[in-house]
Formats: sequence, structure tokens, C-alpha cells
Amino acid sequence: MDTRASNSGHEPVLVKQVVRYLATERNGAYLDLTVGPGGHLKALGQVLSRDARLYGLDRDAAAVKLAYKNLQGSPQLKAIICASYSEVEAVVANFEDRKFDGILLDLGISSLQLDDPQRGFSFRFDGPLDMRFDTGSTGPTAADLINTLSEEQLTGIIRSFGEQRSAGRLARAIVRERQRKMILTTADFRNLILRTIKTPQKHKLLARVFQAFRIAVNNELENLAMVLPRAVDLLKVGGRLAVISYHSLEDRPVKQFMRERVRGCTCPDTFDVCVCGTKPSLRLVTRKAITATPEEQRTNSRSRSARLRVAEKIT
Ligand SMILES: C[S@@+](CC[C@H](N)C(=O)[O-])C[C@H]1O[C@@H](n2cnc3c(N)ncnc32)[C@H](O)[C@@H]1O
Repeated sequence: MDTRASNSGHEPVLVKQVVRYLATERNGAYLDLTVGPGGHLKALGQVLSRDARLYGLDRDAAAVKLAYKNLQGSPQLKAIICASYSEVEAVVANFEDRKFDGILLDLGISSLQLDDPQRGFSFRFDGPLDMRFDTGSTGPTAADLINTLSEEQLTGIIRSFGEQRSAGRLARAIVRERQRKMILTTADFRNLILRTIKTPQKHKLLARVFQAFRIAVNNELENLAMVLPRAVDLLKVGGRLAVISYHSLEDRPVKQFMRERVRGCTCPDTFDVCVCGTKPSLRLVTRKAITATPEEQRTNSRSRSARLRVAEKIT
């Protein structure tokens, strides 16, 4: 199965497992809410019939352009739209299919984005501190947040989204530094972090702090909480939702959401009988999260932290 997205250097993660769990209806309709360079959608197309329909969404216009290129010639491709998955209902209202046999969310970032210094996602290259998935938006960049938020707000971001105990110290250093000179590039920010926090685990520290600002800039956790129930609404009965997450801040809400929908009833455990009447709407297809094989982890570093969860709509 050739799933490489040409020109992006991007390898889709857990691709065989996604295809195995999601492609249950050969003639079905499939929606990839984070299409990126289109690796998963392309792999799905390769096992479905010509009558199947494929749709994609991404906030990043460059990803949409590349996905179109990589899916050129795919007879099942219907549309790839540049939009946030938080607006999925409005987007789908214009599609030929309004309900889907499979919906995929591959959270996180593509190699296309990570390896472009101009996007500012990586501490490995020097570039502007942007970090917006949607570069056409007027929303704040990472530099805007870093140079304007209060020390308390910065501490909150670094602690909550970067899980750093030294968040207060780093926030104080940011505020002190920006009084002298604005922090505008990934190199400025990287050097400041390394000057402030001394640790042998430099890579982990930088990855966590950069991740924290990426999550904040793109409202990633709010968007995730918003899209999960909407995705279930858009599934046919028997349709499946597959979610790949890359860290516990993403995986925890996904796991909790699926469990709540499997349970149905939201009454407190102390109630003898259910009074809420909420019925289960999902069944778990994967009891535990699926992780990449050692072979995939060796050849695709992004797969090392990936966790795939799949659930099926039952009502
Ligand atoms: C890990 S990549 C997807 C890669 C793709 N599954 C593949 O393997 O070819 C995640 C993608 O999600 C997109 N994304 C992030 N937040 C989004 C949102 N709220 N709405 C739509 N796309 C989003 C990013 O721009 C990125 O292209």
C-alpha cells in the first residue's frame, strides 16, 4: 500500500490499523476531519470500491492543496475543504453525503507543518513564532501570546498544556525578557527556555513548551471537545469514529467521551435507577488504545506516541 504523501515527507501513522477498523462498508462515505497531506484518505480509497465517496477537511490551506494533489486520480474523491472541524456541520451541509460510514480525526501536526521553518512549530529550525494551523486567520500567533499575555496566563498555558512544573519560572523569564526585547522567533524562544530551565532532557522540555503554545494558539482542546459529539451525530448507525491522539491531553478526553457514550446513563452512581434516560450511543471497537508496532515506531518517529481509539455508533 503506497500511502506516502508526495513532497511532504509525511508518513500517515497507524495507517493499516485505521483502514482495517474504519473501512467496513466498501461502497460507503468517509470523512477525514484532519486530512493533512491526505495519507489516510488515500489508503482508504485503495481498499474501497469505485462507488465509495471520500471527503476531507483541514484548517491549513497548504495541506488542502497538497491533499488534492496526492488524491488526484482517486475516483472516490468528492471534496476537500479548508475549514476547522469545529464547523463540520456547516461544511457537510453542502456535501452529497450528510451521514458517514467512517470519520477520522488524526490530531496533532503533520511533517509538512513541522518541517517548515516559516510555520514556527519546531524548535529545530529558526523562523517566526507563528504556530497557527490556519495561516489565513486573524487569530493570535504564538508570538502574540508570548509577548502580550500576563505572567499568570503564560504560567497557565505552560502548566496546563505543557505539563511543566517549572511553568512559573519560565513565565517570569518570558515577561522579563520581553521588557528588554520582543520574543519573535523560534530561536529566541528556544534559547530563553534553555537559559531558564536547566535539564539534561532538553528535547523533551522544548517539545512540551512548544506544544503548549501550539495548543493555546489553535484552541486545540476546545475544538476537540466540540467535534467529538458532532462527529457521532454525523455517523450512520454502524458507522465508526477513529481518533488518533499524540499526548495524554488529547487521549484522555477522547477516552472519556467514548466511555460516557458507551455507558449512556449520566445519573450519579448512588442512584438505584436511571432517571436521565440517556441510552448508550457507542460501542467500543478497540477496548484499549492501539499503538504503533516497534517497526513503525522505528521508521516513523511521529508514531511513537500515537494512540488510536475506535468506536461504533449503535443508535
Ligand atoms: C497529523 S495531521 C493529519 C495527517 C493525515 N492524517 C495524514 O496522515 O496524511 C493533522 C492535521 O490536522 C489539521 N488540523 C488541526 N486542527 C484542525 C481543525 N480544528 N480543523 C481541521 N483541521 C485541523 C492540521 O492542519 C494537520 O494538517
